[in-house]
Amino acid sequence: MPRKTVPDLLRMKAENQKIVMITAYDWTMARLVDTAGVDMVLVGDSLGMVVQGGEDTLSVTVDDMVYHGRCVARGLRQAHLTVDMPFMSYQVSPAQALANAGRLVQEGRAQSVKLEGGERSAPAIRAIVEAGIPVVGHVGLTPQSVHALGGYRVQGSDEAGAEQLLRDARAVQDAGAFCVVLEMIRENVAARITESLDVPTIGIGSGAACDGQVLVCNDLLGLDAAFKPRFVKRFAELEGAVIGASRAYAEEVRTGAFPSAEHAFQARGPAHLRRVY
Ligand code: KIV
Repeated sequence: MPRKTVPDLLRMKAENQKIVMITAYDWTMARLVDTAGVDMVLVGDSLGMVVQGGEDTLSVTVDDMVYHGRCVARGLRQAHLTVDMPFMSYQVSPAQALANAGRLVQEGRAQSVKLEGGERSAPAIRAIVEAGIPVVGHVGLTPQSVHALGGYRVQGSDEAGAEQLLRDARAVQDAGAFCVVLEMIRENVAARITESLDVPTIGIGSGAACDGQVLVCNDLLGLDAAFKPRFVKRFAELEGAVIGASRAYAEEVRTGAFPSAEHAFQARGPAHLRRVY
């Protein structure tokens, strides 16, 4: 099956089909979520927190995104690959934005790039799109602006804020983005934005009216039991499963129950020795 393209994703909005996006950061997870049939895989700069263990996304570099993009790309057969542009990789000038977007496509194997910001990011989006690189916008809560926003808060709470979000989403679309992520926007405002745009909206913490949804894979898989924001639904509880399996392994190594004869190689001849995995 060929990888999903921008026209495929635009068609999904036109045909009222919900778009499913999930993050992945390595080959193993990419292969699994692709097999599940998701439409888009995002190598999010959330990797600064869930992979690198940072307190925010601000330390992530273009080199990090290139590396993880390449790993994820190898695991995809049918899903579209979007790679995030990290903090300070597009804010300096449209020329800087284009050069870094080019690296994410050329070296990171992205089919599209995502960058944060509404009206203020329009010149960067325009420059990238004019070079033939598809762009996903991202408005509402933009985690790279955490210090300016004063925390990870719901956006668009008053009429002025809602109007600004609408202007931001339109600016991103008018600059050429083929899709816009709406993060932590009140449901009624996200619905207004979704209705007023021709391109699909992908919501996270922005309610059901969006044209699609995105979640961080670690969150929906329950890999961190202590992290449970309201907008996350856990579809599995893997933290307990991983700790349980690791404890069982440790116990068996310590007691000598593992490895047993079935996991060891007996001296039977060269043909058996050749196939280790
Ligand atoms: O970095 C990320 O994972 C994201 C999604 C949460 C939309 O931007």
